[in-house]
Amino acid sequence: MSNKAVAVVTGASSGIGAVYAERLAARGYDLLLVARRADRLAQLGERLGREHGVAVETWALDLADPDELRPLEARLEAQPAAVLINNAGTGGLGPTARTGADAQEALIRLNVVALTRLSLAALTGFRQSNAGDLVNIASVVAFSPSAGGASYSGSKAFVLNFTRSLQQEYAGSGIRIQAVLPGPIRTEFFSSQGLPDTVFPDTAYISAEDLVDAALAGLGAGEAITVPTLLTPGRWDEMEAARKAFLAEVVGGQVAERYNPA
Ligand SMILES: NC(=O)c1ccc[n+]([C@@H]2O[C@H](COP(=O)([O-])OP(=O)(O)OC[C@H]3O[C@@H](n4cnc5c(N)ncnc54)[C@H](OP(=O)(O)O)[C@@H]3O)[C@@H](O)[C@H]2O)c1
Repeated sequence: MSNKAVAVVTGASSGIGAVYAERLAARGYDLLLVARRADRLAQLGERLGREHGVAVETWALDLADPDELRPLEARLEAQPAAVLINNAGTGGLGPTARTGADAQEALIRLNVVALTRLSLAALTGFRQSNAGDLVNIASVVAFSPSAGGASYSGSKAFVLNFTRSLQQEYAGSGIRIQAVLPGPIRTEFFSSQGLPDTVFPDTAYISAEDLVDAALAGLGAGEAITVPTLLTPGRWDEMEAARKAFLAEVVGGQVAERYNPA
């Protein structure tokens, strides 16, 4: 590696992660790209190194495997990155009765455990210079429980609350922490799970390029939470106001009248 700032991108072998890798290389970051498919990473790394003159390392890791995750954590702690894009994720979509407990656990290991451990490792590195960007890819399904998406929507709700809580912990520091909530994006996400490209109507999708460009614009603007397809920002403010009113009420120390025994 050169002595330039390093951006680490998980799930860089396709889709959103590959576009992040491209955009960060274009901004001059050296890259550490992570996913399971070594061939894809190598091809992308070779091209980005050649086109942008940056140094690229590729680590073929199964992040759902704790033994494979540990070396990446150690690297982030010992050699602080400038940016971590916590993007690797899987859907495990389908009725839980069919997909089974092992698939749901594997999803949680990747979407929740790996993202958590890598966030904490990156933050350990960032604290050394009080600088760094942590970007966690959640989803709009954080707000959308669904039959067929039990662990997936649960995992993305975790990512959102986890990331928002870290933002509070690091408020006032030089470290930026962003949650990105994509809606449907045209990637291999659905086909890699054996699902058709018609999970959502064609018009519901945006491209990974548009998603990443908007997310990076949001980061640059200092946004904590970026929802690229939210056309009416006031909706978020309304949700926040309702959430705060709900929370203020439920810590009032009173049981609701409707639960009083008759
Ligand atoms: N597409 C959408 O509609 C959508 C919407 C909202 C949020 N998201 C989120 O966006 C993120 C990226 O998804 P995408 O749409 O770009 O899908 P994608 O093209 O399928 O990319 C997923 C990436 O994660 C990597 N990955 C999967 N399992 C892994 C594992 N066990 N260890 C390491 N890497 C692993 C994959 O690489 P390998 O297979 O080579 O390991 C791939 O690079 C995910 O977190 C997803 O939940 C997507």
